[in-house]
Amino acid sequence: MAFFSRKKSINKEDILAKPLPKHIAIIMDGNGRWASKRGLPRVAGHRAGVESLKNIVQFCLDIKIPYLTVYAFSTENWKRPKEEVSTLMNLIIEYIQRELDILHRNGVRINPIGKIEDLPEKTLEYIINARNSTQENDKLVLNVALNYGGRTEITQAVSLICQKIKKGELTCEEINEELIGQFLYTHNQPDPDLMIRPSGEMRISNFLLWQLAYTEFWVTNVLWPDFKPQHLVDAIYDFQNRERRFGGLNFS
Ligand code: FPP
Repeated sequence: MAFFSRKKSINKEDILAKPLPKHIAIIMDGNGRWASKRGLPRVAGHRAGVESLKNIVQFCLDIKIPYLTVYAFSTENWKRPKEEVSTLMNLIIEYIQRELDILHRNGVRINPIGKIEDLPEKTLEYIINARNSTQENDKLVLNVALNYGGRTEITQAVSLICQKIKKGELTCEEINEELIGQFLYTHNQPDPDLMIRPSGEMRISNFLLWQLAYTEFWVTNVLWPDFKPQHLVDAIYDFQNRERRFGGLNFS
């Protein structure tokens, strides 16, 4: 089923003619189904998903998107079979081993978001090294959501704010949306303008619950391993042709 139909195919030049989203968020979904359809183990789907990720990061660099957030592992994903979890953890290591140099040369800042301290030691080591060695880069911030949960993120922010109030470093009167934003993993970043979910699911899955308040959603039936830069072009084109009102009215 197509979610929209369009006669003319849209290309990169079409989207470059209009303002681009500053921040794109993606739920990299459908790896397991992609593998099952081919009679392959689920982990083959995750491996193919890494290739899509590489292509999309490169394309975001190419069109100068400053922030990209990808959902790689949720706080709920620990419920998956042990073998799948450990493959995912190893894929993250492999991705860093293979891609870190090129990402660094291209000016990508790798910014893990989530309770990374609970990840396996070796994976954590690679992630911290990737974060530290790219922290000065400014072409693209790549937020990689790892052991990430939106509710956990907000709960942690509330807890940190309470601790500050207890110590007398903050007062209750100072609590507002901006202050809460400063205690989230994405502090100092714009909220996503566009959130993409491949594989046809219509759920938010505990992803960026605070930050997605006014984000435009774009869903496609394409599975993540089949997701190509052309799909991102289509998503951005749709985004550019929507009217964002942020709860107000547009009189123009
Ligand atoms: C969801 O598809 C995908 C994941 C839980 C993992 C996403 C991870 C990667 C693409 C690779 C590792 C990441 C990095 C940063 C190198 P699913 O397995 O739930 O698919 P299904 O719904 O079809 O079963």
